[in-house]
Amino acid sequence: MASSTFELPARGSFPTVELAKKAPKQADALLIATFAGEEGLEVPGTSLLGSSALRSTYEALAAVGATGKAGEIVKVPAPQKAGAAQVIALGLGDVEALDDEALRRAAGSAARGTAGVGTIVTTLADFGVTAAVEGLILGGYAYRGIRSTELTDKEQPASFIVVADKSVSEEFEAARTVAESVLLARDLVNAPANELYPESYADFLSGQAKEAGLDVEVLDEKQLEKQGFGGILAVGKGSARPPRLVRLSWKPKKAKKHVALVGKGITFDTGGISLKPGNGMWDMISDMGGSAAMAATIIAAAKLKLPVQITATLPLAENMPGSGATRPGDVITHYGGLTSEVLNTDAEGRLVLSDAIARASEDKPDYLIETATLTGAQIVALGSRTSGIMGSEVFRDRLAEIGREVGENAWAMPLLEEHDEEIKSQAADIRNINAKREGGMEFAGTYLKQFVGEGIEWAHIDIAGPSWNGSAPRGYTPKRATGVPVRTVVAALREIAEA
Ligand code: BES
Ligand code: MN
Ligand code: ZN
Repeated sequence: MASSTFELPARGSFPTVELAKKAPKQADALLIATFAGEEGLEVPGTSLLGSSALRSTYEALAAVGATGKAGEIVKVPAPQKAGAAQVIALGLGDVEALDDEALRRAAGSAARGTAGVGTIVTTLADFGVTAAVEGLILGGYAYRGIRSTELTDKEQPASFIVVADKSVSEEFEAARTVAESVLLARDLVNAPANELYPESYADFLSGQAKEAGLDVEVLDEKQLEKQGFGGILAVGKGSARPPRLVRLSWKPKKAKKHVALVGKGITFDTGGISLKPGNGMWDMISDMGGSAAMAATIIAAAKLKLPVQITATLPLAENMPGSGATRPGDVITHYGGLTSEVLNTDAEGRLVLSDAIARASEDKPDYLIETATLTGAQIVALGSRTSGIMGSEVFRDRLAEIGREVGENAWAMPLLEEHDEEIKSQAADIRNINAKREGGMEFAGTYLKQFVGEGIEWAHIDIAGPSWNGSAPRGYTPKRATGVPVRTVVAALREIAEA
């Protein structure tokens, strides 16, 4: 079988970031850090500038009003014999407040502000290797869509040469691997739904996964039917493009723990017969963000050779109102046998995820982490930048903490006792929506809980808001797809692998 026949029609561009022991003799610019001190601008020492060059650079920056505040970018001519035409000063803010997230954000601003500059030498890794690399790559990513014209010189991302000791090369490579995996998730989420549909998506993932050394299994609609994946089929039935279930596995020899990953893969969500209003419906191209994040995560784990067994189960379907579509009131049978009354076809994510969670649970993993653009209620409760995490209490709390540690804000949310009653249906075992509007995010969590196998530590991460940035770029977060929560789940896998 050919490894993949489908390629994404467009991918974002991003800066190259290379590690070097010594600065090259010539470059287009030097990127140095500045701080906002109590008495104004401060310029810390850097191996890129000798003491007199540092002094004249300080004076040039002060003369044009540089303050060193976080994210500030000021360009001045470089001193003589600096080996570059200009110095770009990047504000890191208050030195006391500098942490990884502040560095990542500043590095992201630097990468966004330096398209077209060319080759840039920097010692930014002096303040944190992983954060500097992640910030530059994630912040420098730009998706310009499917175009008839090439990138102009001015739009060309910079090439960063990070000057640092060789001893950091392992950390450097790992950071680049993780950051590039986040970009894979972004590229997938940014792709329009006429290009990325279950079959093409499954095909693309197969190719990427095989390249990374993963085992791949793809179930088509006939196999889904045979094996009883009633939730995935019910959602996929309204579309001319049939659903798929993709299973990717990483099985290193030394693994002590097994982690199941599950991600929502609705390639477009019209709502189905419970049709969404037209305004803003287009951004439902991002409704496969959970699956993209989990695919990118398992690929990253393989490239990092993490000593933990991982199986990703990704249900892919297009939620359309075609003549074969599921109707409100229909009763479906999930994988494993539980029946559900579909009272609203726009609550489709839980239908495909439940089949996937039930299937993943059969493998008896130690942990199950699932993520999905599941509810508008998540955005109402926590805003558009903070994920809501539900599930086994200790594991849920730890994942939320990890999310905050890596700069992917997250907050633990409870499952509600009352929903255990309210989920009961008159026509089936359970119903897919609550009769009341309140607690919509938590109700979805309770729905998923029905399918998690006994004894499995599980967490459900609702990323409806954080997976997509509908506003202007900020820090290392571009417009459109963000790639959340790839870095959180990679960090969790590392922690489980080390335990
Ligand atoms: N994909 C949506 C949730 C969503 C909304 C994601 C906004 C990102 C931004 C999901 O399938 C959905 O439509 N959920 C419904 C559930 C309701 C019918 C119970 C919702 O949140 O309105
Ligand atoms: Mn929906
Ligand atoms: Zn949806």
